[in-house]
Amino acid sequence: MFKKILYPTDLSEVSSKALSCLVEMKGSGIKQVILLHVISQSEAESTSEYHHHLFPGIHLETPAKGVAEFLKEVQKAQEGEAREGLAPFESALQDAGFEVKIRIERGVAKLKILQIEQDEHVDAVILGSHGRSNLKEMLLGSVSEHVIRHSKKPVIVVKR
Ligand SMILES: Nc1ncnc2c1ncn2[C@@H]1O[C@H](COP(=O)(O)OP(=O)(O)OP(=O)(O)O)[C@@H](O)[C@H]1O
Ligand SMILES: [Mg+2]
Repeated sequence: MFKKILYPTDLSEVSSKALSCLVEMKGSGIKQVILLHVISQSEAESTSEYHHHLFPGIHLETPAKGVAEFLKEVQKAQEGEAREGLAPFESALQDAGFEVKIRIERGVAKLKILQIEQDEHVDAVILGSHGRSNLKEMLLGSVSEHVIRHSKKPVIVVKR
């Protein structure tokens, strides 16, 4: 039924429950897993206003070389961390016999997940009901709520 499935993870414990669930679903015909991690950037962060707030007097068009290099270093470190964090997820999925494609993206998680869902033409999405915040009184996290509401595909929500 579902050949290609999108599995976004924030590397939290709740999101890793979706991993066990996927492994149990192996027999159902899923062949490929798109394993996605979004390095969170608030909507504001990608605007020049935010940049001005952080670095007053430095224009985005002509950032001081040191600042630009520093930002690049930070991004590199974040990507390395993400890659490391995803590695055990990748091996567990490969060991279960799935073909795995890793995607590390930068942006607003709830929007990126929907964008990658389209990009990759997946048949379904599987995610945790909650993630890193995991607030007791919340029925759903804001990312899972947005994806459930706006996804064009079936969404499998794994409870905490
Ligand atoms: N940055 C991310 N990259 C990839 N997947 C994510 C990301 N953030 C959340 N997810 C996915 O969405 C699921 C629900 O997480 P969500 O962020 O909605 O819950 P939360 O952290 O408890 O709440 P909130 O973020 O609203 O405070 C996670 O289990 C994970 O599958
Ligand atoms: Mg979250």
